[in-house]
Parts: sequence; C-alpha cells; structure tokens
Amino acid sequence: MTTTPKPRITVLGTGYLGATHAICMAVLGYDVLGVDTDRAKIEALSRGEVPFFEPGLPEMLRKALDTGNLSFTTDLAAAGDFGDVHFVCVGTPQLRGSAGADLTYVEGVVRDLAPHLRRRCLVVGKSTVPVGTASRLTRLVQDNSPAGTEVELAWNPEFLREGYAVADTLEPDRMVFGVSSAWAEEQLRAVFAPVLDAGTPVVTTDLATAELVKVAANAFLATKISYINAMAEVCEVTGADVQDLARSLAYDSRIGGRFLHPGLGFGGGCLPKDIRAFVHRAEELGVGRSVAFLRQVDAINNRRRARTVDLVREQAGGSLAGVRVCCLGAAFKPNSDDIRDAPALDVARMLKEEGAVVAVYDPEAMDNARRAYPDLEYADSVMEAASGAGVVVLLTEWDQFRSIDPAALAGVVDGRSVVDGRHALDAQTWREAGWTYRALGRAG
Ligand code: UDX
Repeated sequence: MTTTPKPRITVLGTGYLGATHAICMAVLGYDVLGVDTDRAKIEALSRGEVPFFEPGLPEMLRKALDTGNLSFTTDLAAAGDFGDVHFVCVGTPQLRGSAGADLTYVEGVVRDLAPHLRRRCLVVGKSTVPVGTASRLTRLVQDNSPAGTEVELAWNPEFLREGYAVADTLEPDRMVFGVSSAWAEEQLRAVFAPVLDAGTPVVTTDLATAELVKVAANAFLATKISYINAMAEVCEVTGADVQDLARSLAYDSRIGGRFLHPGLGFGGGCLPKDIRAFVHRAEELGVGRSVAFLRQVDAINNRRRARTVDLVREQAGGSLAGVRVCCLGAAFKPNSDDIRDAPALDVARMLKEEGAVVAVYDPEAMDNARRAYPDLEYADSVMEAASGAGVVVLLTEWDQFRSIDPAALAGVVDGRSVVDGRHALDAQTWREAGWTYRALGRAG
C-alpha cells in the first residue's frame, strides 16, 4: 500500500497506447488529462468516440468520461500546469530510408512540454525507444524547464497488444519501472497502486534496462514466430506438416505454444520496426553481431509473404494474370483495424502486381486499407469478395473467416481453391466440401 497522494496524470499522445492508458487510469480513479496535437482526435475522444477499433475501449471511454476525471486538450501549457506525472505515449515509427527509429515525436513533445514544467514532477516514457534515449531526454527536459533538476525522468515500457489493450493495461503480466531515484519509484507506485495491489509483479531497474526490456521482449516474440516459420520452410521441401510439428513442440512446457503459430508471419506497428531499430541501435553501439540473427528473423518473415503469393499462383495454374483472387483480411491481425506493415495487404498488393484481380474484405480495416491502398478492389462481404474468384486466400484469421461454411462459399466461387495463410481453417472440412486446401508448410 502507498502513502503518496494520488498524482494527477497527463498522457501525451492519444493513439492506441496513450488513449488506452489515459482512459484506464481515469476509470481507476485518477484525474487524467489526455493531450494530442491532432485536434480531430481530441474532439472525438472528448465526445466519447474512440478514433480506432479496439474492443472494449469505447465502453471504457464512456465510463471514464462519466466519472468526470478525464478530459482532453491540445494545450501543452495546460498539461504542464495539471500534471504531477506526465506519460509520453507518442509513436516512434521507422525512419524513412533507415532501419532506425524516428524519435522526432518523442523529442518534440518533451522539448515542447519542458518550458511548462514549473514544479517538481515526473516525466515517464512509455514509447518504445532505442536504449540510451531516456538519459538524453533527461538532459533535454531538465535543460529546458523552469523547474530544472526538480523534473525527473523515468521509463515504464508498455507491453499492450492491440485487440487486448484494456486487459493488458489493467492486468499486465508485469510492470517495469526504470528510475533514477526512490522518489520516482514512489510516484510510479502511486500511479499504478490499484494495478500493483492486484498482485502485478514489478521489476524496478535503471533507465537503460527498462528501455531494453521492451525491445528484447518484442525481439523474442518475433524470433519465436520466425522460428516456426523457418520450420515451415523445411516442412515444405520434406513433405512434413508444420502444424503437427508446432503442436508437438507446444506440449513441451519449456517451449510453450504461444507465438508458435506458423503462417504468414508478423506485421503491425511494433514487431517489424522494433527489431529493425534494435539491430540499428546495436550496430551503433558496436554490438551488432549480438543481434545480427534478427536480420534473419526479418528475412524469414518477409519470405512468408512471397511464399503465400507462390501458393496462390500455383493454385491458379501457374499464372495470376487476370485471375480473380478473394483476399480475406487486411488488418495485420484479427481484432484490430491496424494495417501498419500488414502482411495481408502486402500479399494483396503483390498479387495485383502479378496481374490478379483482387477483392479484399476485412471486418474492421476496410477504411484504413482503402486509404493506404486505393488501387486494390474492395468488397463489402466475404461472399461478395469470393464471387467469381478462382482462388480464395485467407490472410488475417478473424473468427468470422474461421467459421465460413465452405459449402456455401463453393456456391459463389469460380474455382474451389483455398490458400490458408494463417492455418486457421479446418483442412478436412474444406476438402470434404470439395475444395483444394493449401497452407504454408503443409503437404498439398
Ligand atoms: C506486440 C507485442 O505483443 C506487445 O507486447 C507490444 O507492446 C507491441 O507489439 P501487437 O503488435 O499488438 O503487440 O501484436 P501481437 O499480438 O504481438 O502480434 C504481432 C504479429 O505477430 C501479428 O501480425 C500476428 O498475426 C503475428 N503472429 C503472432 C504470428 O504470426 N504468429 C503467432 O504465433 C503470433
């Protein structure tokens, strides 16, 4: 239990991470001010609208606004006045033309907030950054704020998964507090008191370790996925079955079955760019060799996309020119409308480049997909996308696609041929309904 009074919280950046954090903190009873430069986003959130798809979050936002604890602004001066603890939740995308992380937004928000920090307070980084960033930001904030060294910096990496953001925020597997003083740790313990009181384990450490934990975790997850996908490549040339292989490995509790699902591989706003930025940073630090294997992890992952196109081409009889292909899925994973580095859309794009006539359908990501890939064709339903298709390819494993009735789908397609890019369909059921079923790493 903590004796520190409840800190007032600001959350800088209201994307997937920041909006979820702000909303959950308000529901937990804290006074929270969410800040973003995007006025439209701030207005939507203030009206009670979540500007992206995240299950359970709209209900939580309404609950948070009802408490009266949560408000939003574009004004950093107001944030400086309001907050005892300021969370930095802005994005760190991949730089154009480089594998490194773009720190413009993180540095920008810290630099712009600093002049408004006039009393003792804590600035807490949550964004994923290259190791060493926090110590640089400490100097940046202290040099530019009237409160000087009264402003401390801490790092509290966020591990939330899209689609499970609320649960991951309220009941995380662990919390990591990267701090430079006992006072900073006290503030973090006060901010997360309800989460810690529920028994969440905490690792208190230095700033560099806290920064590194996040990229190390994502690198491990990416490696596990590419490991099983590398096994799929071996299965493909040996006639072995990667799904049976993965199931057999999963029973070994030292290995475990999570993130061991073979298929089209990983995408999204985190895993791909985080492993690239990690390699880039390690090379800068002279330890590039230690993480060089992550280049292989990335390469294996990208090969899955090309190999999926190969399977569709094979099913189409050797050429995709003029072939109608039904692409089921656009989001980088189910339960998300996020299309950043989405394997599904990459495959759809490659199919089109080879002359296929693609029709894409996704339950939630259509608007984002249309904006990013206006040249692809889109359908309003599974049936419409499949209508007249020579090949159906499953690219994102939404439950809606898992439960497709292959007999019903057979009625609208031109050829009963399905490529299961996510090992999400029951091969036997589809074959019994007269379909040719193909999946990466499984015998045809
Ligand atoms: C990830 C991390 O899980 C999270 O802790 C971190 O904070 C942000 O990055 P997220 O990007 O939301 O979260 O997605 P995640 O559920 O981890 O999936 C990542 C990708 O891996 C998806 O494209 C998914 O389809 C793919 N994946 C996952 C596989 O290909 N196989 C698997 O076995 C598991």
